[in-house]
Amino acid sequence: MNNATTAATSTRTAAISALGLRKSYGDKVVLDGIDLRIPEGTVFALLGPNGAGKTTTVEILSTLIAADSGEAWIGGHDVTTDADSVRDQIGVTGQFAAVDGLLTAEENLLLMADLHHLGRGEGRRRAAELLERFELTEAARKNVATFSGGMRRKLDLAMTLVGRPRIIFLDEPTTGLDPRSRRVMWELIRNLVADQGVTIFLTTQYLEEADQLADRIAVLDHGKLVAEGTAEELKRLIPGGHVRLQFSDAAGLTEAASVFDVATRDDESLSLQIPNNGSIANLRALLAIIDSTGVRAESLTMHTPDLDDVFLTLTGRQNADAAPAAPAARKESNR
Ligand SMILES: Nc1ncnc2c1ncn2[C@@H]1O[C@H](COP(=O)(O)OP(=O)(O)OP(=O)(O)O)[C@@H](O)[C@H]1O
Ligand SMILES: [Mg+2]
Repeated sequence: MNNATTAATSTRTAAISALGLRKSYGDKVVLDGIDLRIPEGTVFALLGPNGAGKTTTVEILSTLIAADSGEAWIGGHDVTTDADSVRDQIGVTGQFAAVDGLLTAEENLLLMADLHHLGRGEGRRRAAELLERFELTEAARKNVATFSGGMRRKLDLAMTLVGRPRIIFLDEPTTGLDPRSRRVMWELIRNLVADQGVTIFLTTQYLEEADQLADRIAVLDHGKLVAEGTAEELKRLIPGGHVRLQFSDAAGLTEAASVFDVATRDDESLSLQIPNNGSIANLRALLAIIDSTGVRAESLTMHTPDLDDVFLTLTGRQNADAAPAAPAARKESNR
């Protein structure tokens, strides 16, 4: 690592940071050098197909397992040498609900309060407050075994919040939830960040979830981060963005098609598809070219690739052993 000292100093000021994390199970390389830098009070989403290493990353960052090599700091504390301080600051909601089905919701929360040494009064207050915030008050005294998946997920997050963590790891927080429950969960997560300034590290399979919640998104595939940026930046990474111009007659279409170097014409629908990333400057340039022809287009529609396009393009190889070649894969966008 060149200039490791500077890098390490700057990464320590982030809520979550990592340099060169590696982890293998036997001869299977799960993480092959992961670097992260997540500022305080932001939401970071880690996307990746099944088996990409999302849960492994969460486990390393939350001190549950050790990396083979590399370094990570949570709230300025080293996960290996200062794991207790890390644990004091974080909350983890695992991929599979960790609630005890034989206890009631309230008992689960009180148990967490005990683990955090909150004391009886404070523990009860905290449990009641969380039950209310998560709209579980009515179900508070029911055995969790009778809860729906969505209620369990909410209780799971509530339990994570008992200790008022500053940094929260959510491993697929909404998997299996119906669209309404998913939105409720999103709102709870948004409020945590807005009201309390916590930092959220979440993993998800749902591109819309990352799009809705995350300030920054990284795509993990074959042990490497193959892309990182805001949702908008990621969408711009891949081809597929285009403008579609509709004409009223074939002459107009032909005339317009003649002035663009790269354009796909569809004679049947009298439309012309022109690659464009949708930036104002590029749209303006495109309109100027059309104006110069004097041809009138009936309508213009913009297609921007969505995160699904990005995800499928970046992680779309069928063969798990294929060489990691994100740039090549990007070119084959077939959607
Ligand atoms: N304890 C373990 N022993 C052996 N292999 C493991 C272990 N834990 C994880 N793996 C392997 O590491 C790889 C990454 O697993 P991980 O659970 O991190 O993936 P993931 O991205 O969370 O996937 P999913 O979307 O299915 O939750 C998988 O191939 C998995 O089989
Ligand atoms: Mg997982």
